[in-house]
Amino acid sequence: MTANRTAPASRTAPPANSLAGALLAWYDRHARSLPWRVLPDDRANGEITDPYRVWLSEIMLQQTTVQAVKPYFEAFTQRWPDVRALAEADEEDVMKAWAGLGYYSRARNLKACAETVARDHDGVFPDTEAGLLALPGIGPYTAAAIAAIAFDRPAAVVDGNVERVISRLRAIETPLPAAKPEIRAATAELVPDDRPGDFAQATMDLGASLCSPKKPACALCPWIGACAAHKAGLAETLPKKAPKQAKPTRRGMAFVITRGDGAVLLRRRPPKGLLGGMSEPPVSAWGEDAAQNDLAQVPDALAGLGAAWRRATGDVRHTFTHFHLELAVWRAEIEGTPPAPDGHWWSAACDLDGEALPTVMRKALATGLRD
Ligand code: ADE
Repeated sequence: MTANRTAPASRTAPPANSLAGALLAWYDRHARSLPWRVLPDDRANGEITDPYRVWLSEIMLQQTTVQAVKPYFEAFTQRWPDVRALAEADEEDVMKAWAGLGYYSRARNLKACAETVARDHDGVFPDTEAGLLALPGIGPYTAAAIAAIAFDRPAAVVDGNVERVISRLRAIETPLPAAKPEIRAATAELVPDDRPGDFAQATMDLGASLCSPKKPACALCPWIGACAAHKAGLAETLPKKAPKQAKPTRRGMAFVITRGDGAVLLRRRPPKGLLGGMSEPPVSAWGEDAAQNDLAQVPDALAGLGAAWRRATGDVRHTFTHFHLELAVWRAEIEGTPPAPDGHWWSAACDLDGEALPTVMRKALATGLRD
């Protein structure tokens, strides 16, 4: 057995005058064409949904926009067309292919999940929320999304777009995140027995198009007649959000050093934690009060290279989930082609694109190499 693929469901369609029916009729005309999606017309013509593609897309789409995901999804599915291929891939190659998408623990879990499905499930994804939830990197949202989209299970799938749609439809004024259980319950009540996967994708598409955060296009919405927020003139004000905690700013230094042949010194970050397992130029420890002009912060491993450091023009700024980071970039060029210190390697300029460099480290290299 290689992959599980779902056949079209044959259940009774919800009546066109029900909320689900009206939304599905809208989706039949306006569904976004996305690389991992089987459109209603194509399914009617016998195309089947591949759970591997649904799973991969849902992991990539966590905290990341559809536009950013598309080229990565195409590259991954060309290179690793099914779950067994990904299970057998070299972990370093997967990290390199993921570089730039962010939230790198997703890439490590992706590989672990592919291995589990290949080894423990004969290459076939479990087809229930509970079965999916037991796999690495799959939380409640992702389990519901895969169960609905890949297996047409009647799961309530609530991402940020759906939160907006449902909080407006039912005029839920409780601020997020406290409103989440209420929104989930309100969504679950709407999920139809027929085409629950399309219903999930339709609510996402409605939130991504007409039911936008600002200036929603209510006049075109299939739910305008039922929308409590629209009726009360509240649509633009929902969902309410609890004020966010201000993020602290941490500071540090990045050390961009090239040798005589132009190669750049890199090292790998520890496997666990922020940017775990990714590559980087050597950096100092980061902290809210950390120095940015203190060469005592140069990592000890670099001492033997005899570099003369100068500060490059322009700092690097990057925002993570819980803090902002400002890196002062320091630059040095050394002569000859000395070997790399332990735990480091020299990467030729032409190889940098293929390194597993997170975006913040690419910014640091670009700043250093410009100077
Ligand atoms: N965001 C998360 N999952 C999605 C999907 N399947 N389609 C579109 N946007 C999404």
